[in-house]
Amino acid sequence: MRKIIIDTDPGIDDAAALTIALNNPELKVEMLSTVAGNVNLDYTTENAKKILDFFKKDTPLAKGNSLPMLREYEDASQFHGETGMNGFDFPGSKRELLPEHAAVEMKNRILASEEKVTLVTIGPLTNAALLLSMYPEVKQKLAEVVIMGGSTIDGNTNTSAEFNIKVDPHAAQMVINSGLPVTIFGLRVTTRALLTKTDIEKVKTLGRAGEMLYSLFTHYRGGDLEKAGLMMHDICTICYLLKPEIFKFQQTQLEVAVDGPAAGTTVADLAGRYTAAKNVKLAVEIDQKQFRDWMLAEISQLK
Ligand code: RIB
Ligand code: CA
Repeated sequence: MRKIIIDTDPGIDDAAALTIALNNPELKVEMLSTVAGNVNLDYTTENAKKILDFFKKDTPLAKGNSLPMLREYEDASQFHGETGMNGFDFPGSKRELLPEHAAVEMKNRILASEEKVTLVTIGPLTNAALLLSMYPEVKQKLAEVVIMGGSTIDGNTNTSAEFNIKVDPHAAQMVINSGLPVTIFGLRVTTRALLTKTDIEKVKTLGRAGEMLYSLFTHYRGGDLEKAGLMMHDICTICYLLKPEIFKFQQTQLEVAVDGPAAGTTVADLAGRYTAAKNVKLAVEIDQKQFRDWMLAEISQLK
């Protein structure tokens, strides 16, 4: 069983990733932490509470940063709805939060863990950067950082920058250059992690979790249900932890632009033309059918 911490900005595709991660017996989610991203921190935190309540999990939850390190905060509510999880009527939550900032709570759990912990980030990397800069001693207890973010193809905020990195490029640069093993899923792969209309109709038949996800997916604007399908960006990180053979990777040097019009853009030296350094394991291919089969199988096993 792999111990993981997930930093998230739910967010409809986050909700799908959390659904699988919280319920798969091969993963032990030590805690969740929330960050401002798809929607503001209050909404992302409420949404994380609702997902935990829906699955009756006692997973600790900590609230993180409401703002990026330096840049002005921008949201993605146009894709996820005003609350970030429009589409399903979750009851209000009375769940208590952990008392400290996410970076402090992550530090406490990582240092207290016997075995190494895997940090999974599926939103802007502000909390992860704060953790590593405030408490560098956690690095010896982190097995890997698994990131959904970046792009070596087009962007989804402008022609080149992917949202999670665009919101906080300074934080992304700090984590990617932390010296830790980093595995990163950018748009080259996550835009091909698609659920078609037929898949979504199948999801609807998969119990109460399937009904909930179906309601969210029909309100999610990350892709086009009538054409290619919906992009399951964040769940690629969880799929990698459980079924890595679905992907192909290349070790490469990835740089992040932090200023000017290209801020948030990630550039990979894929040909190894400019440096011998290789700071990330970059996902470069996905077996689309195996991904769809895996996701439907995971949802069908939920209680
Ligand atoms: O660009 C896709 C990423 O931005 C995903 O994590 C999605 O949830 C949004 O946060
Ligand atoms: Ca996300």
